[in-house]
Amino acid sequence: MKKVRIALMGLGNVGAGVWTILNSNKKEIMKRSGYEVEVAKILVRDRNKHRDVEVPDEIVTTDFNDILEDDSIKIVVEVMGGINPAREYMLKCMDRKKQIVTANKMLLATGGDELFEKADSKGVMFNYEASVAGGIPIINGIDESLTANKIEELYGIVNGTTNYILTKMQLEKLDFDVALKQAQDMGYAEADPTSDIEGFDAQYKLAILSSLAFGTKINVDNVYREGITKIKSVDIRYAKKFNMVIKLLAIAKENEGKLELKVHPTMIPESHPLANVYDSFNAIFIKGNAVGDLMFYGRGAGSLPTGSAVVSDIIAILRSNMDIENFNSVVKNNLWHREIKNIKDCASKFYIRLSVMDQSGVLGEITTILGKHNVSLRSVMQKGREESKDKVTIVLITHKIEEAEINSAIKEIVDLKSVMQIDNIIRIEDFK
Ligand code: NAP
Ligand code: HSE
Repeated sequence: MKKVRIALMGLGNVGAGVWTILNSNKKEIMKRSGYEVEVAKILVRDRNKHRDVEVPDEIVTTDFNDILEDDSIKIVVEVMGGINPAREYMLKCMDRKKQIVTANKMLLATGGDELFEKADSKGVMFNYEASVAGGIPIINGIDESLTANKIEELYGIVNGTTNYILTKMQLEKLDFDVALKQAQDMGYAEADPTSDIEGFDAQYKLAILSSLAFGTKINVDNVYREGITKIKSVDIRYAKKFNMVIKLLAIAKENEGKLELKVHPTMIPESHPLANVYDSFNAIFIKGNAVGDLMFYGRGAGSLPTGSAVVSDIIAILRSNMDIENFNSVVKNNLWHREIKNIKDCASKFYIRLSVMDQSGVLGEITTILGKHNVSLRSVMQKGREESKDKVTIVLITHKIEEAEINSAIKEIVDLKSVMQIDNIIRIEDFK
């Protein structure tokens, strides 16, 4: 049996999962890869920190050079997170012809080009299955199994933390903060959970997925983003009344040669398969012009599911049957240029919740403004006096309309004396 020496950079949630799988599935990995995988070094920040896994003291280091300078280490797994020093360390390892596996979506989405180019120029493999949707094999799914298709639409629940929070708010009526704390304790959240709850993590993942699905370079800033912090329990209850649920959806669609790329809380019909994706589970729903509808489903975060994707990437390197020191990669995510639509030119149906004065004629004033901006209504719901005797809540569901039009209408509605405030606006996707 051939032996390969690898190094881990990071022994947190994901690193511990990788370590566990490499040990518990040692025999299977040997059979499948043809190699005995030996973890020669593990880079951490703090040697004295308590770990959930037991690793031999002598392989733990705080000095990156112990990995870089050791030519017997052929594969380096980056599960540290963040931009630098992860970026700098990976570039240096590629210079030394070490193969790289990473789970770092933030770095891939914001500075991936430099890493892909370096991997190409140095002839090393650069695998990143774990960067999107944890244990779901979506990168390889798109990049290998679906290459016969023209992908037309992609809808993803790609952030485990926010799906966990929304599930707990919906099914157990938990407060946002309590649910977030639970997601952090389970190891789903990023070191700074702002990345999860404000939609940045899903934005990075959509940039990575759509660059592969549509064969084009995606600047992450062209992916529209909204997080879930504005979602209140009352919105979840109203959604239910309209037979819908709220999910943080990553959406990529091709329309007349232009791409629509957006991440935002979305009301979707209860009957759609994505509505039944709960907890930290993720799912990616794809429409391909040959395969039709397809859904990938699984654990989107956590130590072992993410470790599963990382270890598979290691095995893929070993199985590629290449001379590990001499590999020619193929550029896959920059085949052609696609224009990205500005959010104001995208169209949606909308849920609008407003607080208005309890007086006659208010609804008429609002619908007149909406009509002026070509916004037609599918449903109107008015709730009687709740907290205050002068205030009532109105919920409107619109037909499909461009964002620019709805924004102009909302600006005028806010100025009405009878309107106290717009409480929330949430896009609706009915997949039609
Ligand atoms: P984590 O629990 O915070 O672990 C990070 C690890 O990297 C720790 O062991 C830390 O050392 C080490 N580290 C960080 N900066 C370092 C530095 N400058 N020098 C040396 N060691 C350093 O993070 P995680 O949740 O495992 O996530 C790791 C990566 O995987 C991130 O890119 C994340 O986005 C991605 N990811 C995470 C998940 C998930 O479910 N958590 C899923 C998919 C992808 P110490 O332990 O000594 O502090
Ligand atoms: N924080 C991420 C999530 C980890 O919650 O989905 C998996 O990428």
